[in-house]
Amino acid sequence: MVHQKYPELDVPARILLSTGPTNVHPRVYKAMQTPVIGYGEAAFLPVIDGISSMLAEVFQTKESLTMALSATGSGGVEAGMASLLEPGDTVVIGSYGFFCERMAEMARRQGANVIIVKGEWARSLDPQAVADELKKHKSVKLVGMVHAETSTGVSQPLEEISRLAKEHDALFVVDAVTSFGGSEVAVDRWGVDYISSGSQKCLSCPPGLAPMAVSQAALDVMGNRKQSSPSWYLDLLLIANYWGKDHVYHHTAPISSLYAIYEGLRIVLEEGLEARFQRHQRNAAALRAGLEALGLTIISDKDHRLAQITPVAIPEGVDDGKVRTRLANDFKIEISRGLGQFAGKIWRIGLMGEASTAGNLLLLLSALEEILPQEGYEVPVGAGVAAASKALASS
Ligand SMILES: Cc1ncc(COP(=O)(O)O)c(C=O)c1O
Repeated sequence: MVHQKYPELDVPARILLSTGPTNVHPRVYKAMQTPVIGYGEAAFLPVIDGISSMLAEVFQTKESLTMALSATGSGGVEAGMASLLEPGDTVVIGSYGFFCERMAEMARRQGANVIIVKGEWARSLDPQAVADELKKHKSVKLVGMVHAETSTGVSQPLEEISRLAKEHDALFVVDAVTSFGGSEVAVDRWGVDYISSGSQKCLSCPPGLAPMAVSQAALDVMGNRKQSSPSWYLDLLLIANYWGKDHVYHHTAPISSLYAIYEGLRIVLEEGLEARFQRHQRNAAALRAGLEALGLTIISDKDHRLAQITPVAIPEGVDDGKVRTRLANDFKIEISRGLGQFAGKIWRIGLMGEASTAGNLLLLLSALEEILPQEGYEVPVGAGVAAASKALASS
């Protein structure tokens, strides 16, 4: 009998030019149909080991333990805080966007004394401000930064801040939810002790896994805690036992999601890291050229723009929601609204993973050329697509 109250799922397909999730690669969907078997079976363990090795390649690390936690991006960041921090620890966190504030709140909830180095939204943080703050404190447990601030479209340079953290014997912790797999994340070279991401952005997998890399120094800190982490589930020392060579049971591994990320990582490595990063850069540059040709303003710091997210000011008098709804209904395109202090002021356009294509950005520009004049903002029709095509042709 057909159930009237709970009909079959009926969700439209979309071109996901939002801040995530992004479009899932067909090979990833196919991998998810692989039979579910036990997480401890000999036939499954090569999946775990393969994911760990591929993550090490994408994180560019030979020294850190790499694993994928059953959690979204937030869970990855929180696992770091819950495993590294103890009440009363002093931490220094850069604040230049919504996800920086989330990281600080997670540290606060571990009972840490959180020192904020305040920057400006849509600008990168000056390492000198971190240096000045670090000088004021005797003992800092960790310095935390967001690599790619999805709320503002800004990429934060990390190497200098990592050096400062090391100078003060502090661990260096990074949220790479939006950058990983779409731009360089060089864990060993940059001296990152704990870094985590999400499966749903540049890896083009469904949400639900947080890939991460944990340095030996970070593992030592976890092993030398006065008390165990207050979170059993997010205790990375326990999770490391499953990802290590003995594969000790901790929780039931999300088998199908792990198949997904296994295939997602294979696709990343097949394309090659450098080629993938360049594709993201090239498409983002073409999108920006097109948007600017339509008279729209990109609000992020020119020198530190993310390829993954382009933040555009909503023109005066144009209804934020109406434009996004029309994009979804008439063109099947999803873009994202602004967050926090940018809510109602900007749109955030994502070009990540599979969704970062010339076809997608040209379609979006053409859709905006149709919608914006109808919503009260005149644009030189055709100019956006032309400028983007020119940028693509010359790159
Ligand atoms: C930079 C950054 N950090 C953390 C998160 C949180 O990830 P999730 O929503 O998967 O929990 C996001 C999500 O967009 C993000 O962009």
